[in-house]
Amino acid sequence: MSRFLSKRLQKLSVYTPGEQPKGAERFIKLNTNELPYPPAPAVRAAVTDAKLCDLRLYPDPTCSSLKGALAALYGTKASEVYLANGSDDVLYFAFLAYCQEAPAVFCDLTYGFYEVFADLVGSQKTVVPLKADYSVDVDALCAADGTVFLANPNAPTGLALPLSDVERIVSSKSDRVVVVDEAYVDFGGESALSLIKKYDNLLVVRTFSKSRAMAGARLGYAFACEELIADLERIRFSTNPYNINRLTLLLGEKTVQEEAYYRDCMHRIVTTREKTKQALEALGFSLTDSRANFLFATHNRVSAEDLYLALKARGILVRYFAGAKRAANHLRISVGSEEEMAEFIRVTEQILKEQL
Ligand SMILES: Cc1ncc(COP(=O)(O)O)c(C=O)c1O
Repeated sequence: MSRFLSKRLQKLSVYTPGEQPKGAERFIKLNTNELPYPPAPAVRAAVTDAKLCDLRLYPDPTCSSLKGALAALYGTKASEVYLANGSDDVLYFAFLAYCQEAPAVFCDLTYGFYEVFADLVGSQKTVVPLKADYSVDVDALCAADGTVFLANPNAPTGLALPLSDVERIVSSKSDRVVVVDEAYVDFGGESALSLIKKYDNLLVVRTFSKSRAMAGARLGYAFACEELIADLERIRFSTNPYNINRLTLLLGEKTVQEEAYYRDCMHRIVTTREKTKQALEALGFSLTDSRANFLFATHNRVSAEDLYLALKARGILVRYFAGAKRAANHLRISVGSEEEMAEFIRVTEQILKEQL
């Protein structure tokens, strides 16, 4: 870093993304919760030469077409939809918008970017510990003052709160914003989307990265009352109104039209998740009841670090959170295809035989 960087930014602990190895095809990649299946055929066919040539033109800064498509799919108004360059951007803008005066409130074991964004915008932080069983302390979140950031299902635990608990948090204090990050909701969580008509302090954040096989295209979105959406648009139009490129907008629209294909992918992931969970339990692992497209697992005898390294040496990448206290000795394993998970179980069994 240079000597010119502001003191506050010098102290920032930056987010560490999961490894994206060069030649990723040589790995079974179970470390960043991507979908193992490709985008729907119609989505892939949308990238024509003509559309590539259109890249010389700026994209539509209002994103009206994709907003309309999402509104139609989810039964909202287009003015209740916000679009972003990945849901990380929605979250960042929410920190900018709602955490300058109010503290940011989030759990001690949750999506790592919340803490980074809080530090980036210079927000006070109120960190609410998960309970011993990794469940979210709903009463503590209701009682805390400040803007709440809740991943539901949570990451990396995979545990989900029922809608009634989310509503309890949202309704507990009407003078603060509650951001519900639903990156993984499609794999078995209960969405808070139905609550946006009832509460003007709720922002529901979603992404195309996980259940829509588009992590590389960077497309996030959010639902909320028109006033909250206008807040985020105010920031977007003060930074980069062209933040979603033409191809991503196009692919997003095509994706929305292929709901049946993606529902089938999600169903397959859930089936594979439960099968993998059972196989891991039989090998001596303890796991949470994940409602996401990943498993959170610890072994009763072999350390997470040893397993992570041995798996990597055999071409399988999983996520190990070195230094994260509450996640110490746990692995987060993305649910890949049926074949990938069968191979993962086979290799894990072999490693355990060698290490025990
Ligand atoms: C809980 C949670 N929220 C948000 C994101 C960001 O997703 P993206 O920026 O790809 O939409 C992630 C990515 O891993 C996540 O785990």
